[in-house]
Amino acid sequence: MKLTNVLTGAFATVTFAQTPTPYTDVKSGITFNRFQDTSGYFFGLALPQNSTGNTDFIATIGGKGTGYSGVSFGGGMLSKLLFVAWPNQQSVVSSFRKTANYGSPAVAAGTFTQTPIANGTYVNSTHWTYTFLCSKCIQSDDTTFKATDSAPSLGWALNAQAPAQRTNAAASVSRHSSQGQAVFDLSKARSSKFETWKSWAKPAVARRFDA
Ligand code: HEM
Ligand SMILES: *[C@@H]1O[C@H](CO)[C@@H](O)[C@H](O)[C@H]1NC(C)=O
Ligand SMILES: *[C@@H]1O[C@H](CO)[C@@H](O)[C@H](O)[C@H]1NC(C)=O
Ligand SMILES: *[C@@H]1O[C@H](CO)[C@@H](O)[C@H](O)[C@H]1NC(C)=O
Repeated sequence: MKLTNVLTGAFATVTFAQTPTPYTDVKSGITFNRFQDTSGYFFGLALPQNSTGNTDFIATIGGKGTGYSGVSFGGGMLSKLLFVAWPNQQSVVSSFRKTANYGSPAVAAGTFTQTPIANGTYVNSTHWTYTFLCSKCIQSDDTTFKATDSAPSLGWALNAQAPAQRTNAAASVSRHSSQGQAVFDLSKARSSKFETWKSWAKPAVARRFDA
């Protein structure tokens, strides 16, 4: 009986840790429904209240150390819209990716764009964080979740190893050391403040890379 209780307790803890929960970034003040894994990896989503015709969301992605954090906006890895980011000194390098085969995904071209939100993008003593407006990122071709979904699965992947060419957003990456999918309750990502937060996104000034 004791053993059963211990095992049940451990399982409950793991499940809880992998369920996205509301999280407010103190630096930006933006609230996300955010998934976090034990490595320090996290990915969060903020959405407008009205989903009709919406193609945009605000995302926050980050982790600990210098490795990459990746997300699949469609759940699985293959033929879904992916996004990867990693820190480089005090800035963050990021790109959209897509692949039909298991291997380092190529940079993806499309109508989708990323625009950083400055005070949600930082490297502190424990984590790096990139917050951006993802415009035209909700696609209607089955490569992403849909605007009208209530609880889609999104994929996550990370490798604690930094890409070899970490100043290059198109760098090839090594296979993830941890990956999975998490169900996002989108009702917990919706906010009436979305339009205000969205207005904070501004194209980045040219970045200088010292590495
Ligand atoms: C060389 C690079 C990569 C290789 C060789 C690779 C390989 C694989 C393989 C074989 C699987 C399916 C089997 C498994 O779960 O182990 C998988 C799943 C997955 N990969 Fe990758 N991958 C790479 C990079 C990436 C990147 C950069 C991302 C994210 C942006 C990513 C996201 C995912 C996701 C979300 C899954 C699905 C996990 C699940 O359904 O539980 N992968 N990958
Ligand atoms: C983040 O920046 C925006 C303007 O870009 C500002 O309105 C907002 O108050 C800032 N957030 C915090 C918590 O200071
Ligand atoms: C939601 O957005 C759609 C498309 O822009 C619009 O037609 C509709 O009136 C909006 N609904 C509400 C409740 O604001
Ligand atoms: C660093 O940022 C992360 C989020 O990116 C936050 O959870 C953590 O509390 C911050 N650490 C410090 C020391 O401020």
